Amino acid sequence: MATQISPCCSSSTTFSSSSLNQEPPFSSANLFNFSTKSSTSRWAFKIHSRIDPKNHFNLKSANGYPLNAVSLQDGAAEKPLAKEPVLPEQTESNLSVTVVGASGDLAKKKIFPALFALFYEDCLPPNFIIFGYARTKMTDEELREMISRTLTCRIDKRENCGDKMEEFLQRCFYHSGQYDSEEHFAELDKKLKQKEEGKLSNRLFYLSIPPNIFVDVVRCASCKASSGNGWTRVIVEKPFGRDSESSGELTRSLKQYLAEDQIFRIDHYLGKELVENLSVLRFSNLVFEPLWSRNYIRNVQFIFSEDFGTEGRGGYFDNYGIIRDIMQNHLLQILALFAMETPVSLDAEDVRNEKVKVLRSMRKLRLEDVVIGQYKGQSKGGKTYLGYTEDPTVPNDSLTPTFAAAALFIDNARWDGVPFLMKAGKALNTRRAEIRVQFRHVPGNLYKRNFGMDMDKATNELVLRVQPDEAIYLKINNKVPGLGMRLDRSDLNLLYKTRYSKEISDAYERLLLDAIEGERRLFIRSDELDAAWSIFTPLLKELETKKITPELYPYGSRGPVGTHYLAAEYNVRWGDLAEDE
Ligand code: BG6
Repeated sequence: MATQISPCCSSSTTFSSSSLNQEPPFSSANLFNFSTKSSTSRWAFKIHSRIDPKNHFNLKSANGYPLNAVSLQDGAAEKPLAKEPVLPEQTESNLSVTVVGASGDLAKKKIFPALFALFYEDCLPPNFIIFGYARTKMTDEELREMISRTLTCRIDKRENCGDKMEEFLQRCFYHSGQYDSEEHFAELDKKLKQKEEGKLSNRLFYLSIPPNIFVDVVRCASCKASSGNGWTRVIVEKPFGRDSESSGELTRSLKQYLAEDQIFRIDHYLGKELVENLSVLRFSNLVFEPLWSRNYIRNVQFIFSEDFGTEGRGGYFDNYGIIRDIMQNHLLQILALFAMETPVSLDAEDVRNEKVKVLRSMRKLRLEDVVIGQYKGQSKGGKTYLGYTEDPTVPNDSLTPTFAAAALFIDNARWDGVPFLMKAGKALNTRRAEIRVQFRHVPGNLYKRNFGMDMDKATNELVLRVQPDEAIYLKINNKVPGLGMRLDRSDLNLLYKTRYSKEISDAYERLLLDAIEGERRLFIRSDELDAAWSIFTPLLKELETKKITPELYPYGSRGPVGTHYLAAEYNVRWGDLAEDE
């Protein structure tokens, strides 16, 4: 009974051993329990209990791998071991997902549609409910009406779409409340209990709210609305602070109320199909892994571009800028996956241990290895595009970068000296996200003469196009058919839409499902976050204290010219630009 880790709850709430800080049936405590007693049969029991043969609902996991222990670095081992609860049948449990900030854009555009997609694909348990929580006064009906405007059915299975939507909407409810009111969360708890009808209750809170109220909500939810007999998990979205200090502070505050294994820090790029496929490509094909090092790879490029500006989000964006918005998380996470050593297994802790090693081996970014830009207004084809500082929500003299390019280095045996280039920008000429791997020149190339002077053009390049139009292609040199000896660059091309008929799931679907299942592999651990911030924090501080002025680039262009010089310093050519030519 009663492990109290929420020091600030107004009433002296105590939790049963299965409550807030231990997660039955799959808590870290249980796993430690397992390892200390090394009881294989109990482990087997736990796995099987997730997949009830009597139930048509099959719990799926992104990698089909058992659940994970929690990092010792996060202090989980210090928590007392929980007494193992008796497991009721799965059909007697209830899952509730509370979307806090339900009337916001992210909730409307991503979270509710992803939940519906999971429901549509039969990925949610039989007993589940969704609660929207926000300050706006709204009835259940009004919430349903709001949600229904953004729901769509899978292209390949339109049948019963209307019925499915109706069924889904009937499981959606709303509770209006303040974000810092324990009383309002206690009311929510009452409503949840009514709907749970005494079943084992598993509760997931999705915080789709500004970071300045994360801690209030977590305090109120954990004190007043966490499950009494099942698990309670919280998904948080970036920004996780603005630098190492504020991020550390946020982590410490959250951990006053939650154990690390209850916090699911989402980076939605990790849920994207091609990013998930990166490890599959590398570790399940013999041909790639032996090439995956400084011996064969000349440079790696991570490119993110959007063909629209910060329209409507200037208020948020101006406080963060593109380096915090895209590089420090989305691109860095992909880099870590790309560069990590082979993990011991696909277990979340094994994968995250390898990622964190990469991050900790990286050099801190220096000012001279970065180019920053900001878009300016442009008139094109009779249309006028406003510059960043012309956005009414942005200060006129803002120096916030909307574009950045950087050269990063991993000082370890595998990657010593290989430039990892990143480029991220808004209001550019195109929308794309891709990983480009440029290989070294062929030594003593017999066909050198056929390439002319520019050997760079002849190097192999592997491209993973994350979006749009997902694809993996490898640029190779090929003989043009005929009696002569003319060489040509061609692509071995795996274009997803021609190879697979199934629509690609949204990243939020995969991540929500994983959070429901307690699969943490695609979520960011606190030590990963610390390591990520420590690469960028000195640079961010220097940019701000020295008030470095970004290079202006026209809306819809390819970005600042300085980007080419940065790459050239490391003897690199941006692959995307060559392709656009
Ligand atoms: C978000 C950023 O994390 O990712 C946004 O805050 C950006 O600025 C968005 O537009 C891009 O996500 P996606 O999935 O549309 O590429």
